[in-house]
Amino acid sequence: MGHDARCDAFPAHFFARQDESPDSFFYAPPRLVTHIDDGAIAAVGDLYAELGITGEVLDLCSSWVSHFAATPARLVALGMNHVELAQNPQAADWVVHDVNADPALPFTDASFEAAVCCVSVDYLVRPLEVFDEVARILRPGGPFVCTFSNRLFPTKAIRGWLMTSDEEHLQIVSEYFRRSTGWDEPIAQRRTPPTHVGDPLFAVWAHRAHE
Ligand SMILES: C[S@@+](CC[C@H](N)C(=O)[O-])C[C@H]1O[C@@H](n2cnc3c(N)ncnc32)[C@H](O)[C@@H]1O
Repeated sequence: MGHDARCDAFPAHFFARQDESPDSFFYAPPRLVTHIDDGAIAAVGDLYAELGITGEVLDLCSSWVSHFAATPARLVALGMNHVELAQNPQAADWVVHDVNADPALPFTDASFEAAVCCVSVDYLVRPLEVFDEVARILRPGGPFVCTFSNRLFPTKAIRGWLMTSDEEHLQIVSEYFRRSTGWDEPIAQRRTPPTHVGDPLFAVWAHRAHE
């Protein structure tokens, strides 16, 4: 794995994980479960609708559910487990690809109108390279929406995420956008009210910059 000098801005061992074995081991068994509750899932769908996410869309770190209230014209799901991805009823196409092993996305430049990543940004060990790549495959003006809650697989999440608060997670993902290439200024929001009972939902998104 090449060294990305941009990651030196983060504390030492920020991107280390308890389980450093290949992700293909951990994700080999299909998990046909929901990782957040119905209220948080609804908040994800509401945000996608609010941002008008439609057309050709990439769901990065996808599984068997993509949480769109209205299915995009063509949704491509990228994740680690073919059994999960093949059961995604909203996906028109899917691909197994480990972005921690190889951040280069298997898509041509400017081939998507939007991209989303739900409850998975905390597993990225090379996030700036992945965010560079998402910008590359988006058309100018296209949004990339990262949503997350406070639940995760602790052995696979990066140390920097496990050591920080919900509010700091919003800052971390905002920094991923700022320190990678091709993005307008990100927007970070708590999407469920502070009084919300159930899984909270947070989001950070930015639009692919016009050159
Ligand atoms: C907590 S699940 C979330 C799944 C789905 N986005 C959702 O909202 O339910 C984490 C997902 O990230 C994917 N993932 C984890 N590590 C990955 C990697 N290195 N490359 C690509 N996908 C990965 C897994 O396949 C898994 O489906």
